[in-house]
Amino acid sequence: MCGIFGYIGPRDPVPVIMGGLKSLEYRGYDSAGIAIVHDQKLQVRRSSGKLKNLEELLASEPLSGEFGLGHTRWATHGRPTEENAHPHRDCHGRIVVAHNGIIENYLALKRKLSEEGHKFTTETDTEVIAHLIEKHFDGNLENAVVKTLADLKGLYAFTCICVDDPQKIVAVREGNPLIVGAVDGEGFVASDIPAMLPYTRSILFLDDHEVAVVARNGIRLLDTAGNSRQPHFQHIAWDPIMAEKGGYKHFMLKEIYEQPVAIENTILGRFSLDANTVHLEDVAFTDDIWRSFKNIRILACGTSWHAALAGKYMIESLARLPVEVDYASEYRYRNPVVLPETLFIFITQSGETLDTIAAQRQVRDQGKTLTITNVVGSMTTRVADAVLYTRAGPEIGVASTKAFTTQLACLYLIALHLAELHKTLTEPQIRKALTDLTELPNKIERILDRAKHVEDISKSLFRQHDFLFLARGIHFPIALEGALKLKELSYIHAEGYPAGEMKHGPNALIDENLPVVFLAAYDRESDASHQRYEKVLNNIKEVKSRDGIILALGNEGDSDLSESADHFIEVSPTNEFLLPILEVIPLQLLAYYCAVRRGCDIDQPRNLAKSVTVE
Ligand code: F6R
Repeated sequence: MCGIFGYIGPRDPVPVIMGGLKSLEYRGYDSAGIAIVHDQKLQVRRSSGKLKNLEELLASEPLSGEFGLGHTRWATHGRPTEENAHPHRDCHGRIVVAHNGIIENYLALKRKLSEEGHKFTTETDTEVIAHLIEKHFDGNLENAVVKTLADLKGLYAFTCICVDDPQKIVAVREGNPLIVGAVDGEGFVASDIPAMLPYTRSILFLDDHEVAVVARNGIRLLDTAGNSRQPHFQHIAWDPIMAEKGGYKHFMLKEIYEQPVAIENTILGRFSLDANTVHLEDVAFTDDIWRSFKNIRILACGTSWHAALAGKYMIESLARLPVEVDYASEYRYRNPVVLPETLFIFITQSGETLDTIAAQRQVRDQGKTLTITNVVGSMTTRVADAVLYTRAGPEIGVASTKAFTTQLACLYLIALHLAELHKTLTEPQIRKALTDLTELPNKIERILDRAKHVEDISKSLFRQHDFLFLARGIHFPIALEGALKLKELSYIHAEGYPAGEMKHGPNALIDENLPVVFLAAYDRESDASHQRYEKVLNNIKEVKSRDGIILALGNEGDSDLSESADHFIEVSPTNEFLLPILEVIPLQLLAYYCAVRRGCDIDQPRNLAKSVTVE
């Protein structure tokens, strides 16, 4: 939520900061602002709405200067107006602050500062930071920031500049992400990696309670007592080109099409077909540790939670270990019973989702933690005992696509690894399961080759007001995911439901205006999968007899299914546990094309942001 970018160095800071904000706009797009220091004076431009409004303002009221910072906002406290847009100033316009997060005690602080004579001009919580720094400033900005931190409660990251202690940007992290980079006389601060990639891939991930002083001659790191710390930079393998649209109209479409490669990269080197074995050597658990887990609890939010739910079916069926799945945002507010020898698995694309990190911190003393994440150096990796990276590359579209399918691939590898260690599958079964995995990228390509068919289907469905997505077994989480994609991208109301539950209430919704999407692909070699399929066929008949519009996803050449449906989308069959990865791709495309036809903002759906660092 909210993107911060700061620059100090020899270049014109305005295009550098605006470029940084452009790559961070997926984090928030309610309003934006920039502050530039010129001749010991701070100049600020801010506007409500998307970054292009700020660009237009800068075209009519240009800025130039020596260094500065910018912000793109996802509103929490205060409406998304120009006055509430960051950066925010102190009483005299000598200090500016750009902030991501929430200052929980801001009302008490505001009251006290007002009594002391400070003048507030906005509704935001951020403004108290500027006034506190003003209050504590005695000629050294970082010292004033360190004193300010002692007053603040909440989770936040901020950067600030003061013209009375110039030539530095001070950056702080307390819960929310902030990274810093330095190259040859230049310093950068950003909320996320893609914004930094054009300049450096050597990145310092600020830790909680750390204060960075970014100057032309390098970076100094302090703790909250003002003592120096040694900075540790990490190398990021992502290429700057990976964070660009590469000829696609939207990041989301590019990311949908990247899925064959993302899956290939995620499984690469993590198994051997010759030895029929899974190698999760990058996970810091020995085989004895893996074997010691008697049950598993998976925690995540949103799309990652849908992956968790599918992971439950995989691990329970293949490795015969009990698995519970919780929303990270709910887990914290109940009093769960944790059994001994529990492995906690966290799934988070960004590695920064506040609810997920908070749950992760809460269980640290109750069992080992493993995180599945896409972002090297993110907070989840620092709180976990072990990390399994999805190697999806940067995901910029707000709606998650390739992160989801690579999370499923990781969960499948974990399930097989546990099955191998607990001997719940035979060697030939593991070999078959791994062979199926290697065939997946080609099968995804085949689905993508038929994207035009999904686009054609979207033409007849995009005007509908409600959708149902129905499935059974491991396909149910994909029904939930298909509904979520449609909701968030096209603003059409959609629900995912277990197909067998329809008769217990939702059947009442069916009429000639309700499209019902059925997930009916099955594993031709599994009786259980075929039985599930037959039950879904019956459910299709039930909906058809009540005039619902049927869109069915099923195996290539399934004439029973195609004849029962109004629209039919084919996927190549594979085993039951990998079918979700194939089924979700047409659903991503369906949501994408419906949203395009409805004129929605694909990469930045309304009211959302990519990295959810507030509760
Ligand atoms: C939906 C989506 C969100 C995220 C959720 C968790 O398309 O992307 O539901 O899945 O906000 O984010 P991460 O995985 O970064 O923890």
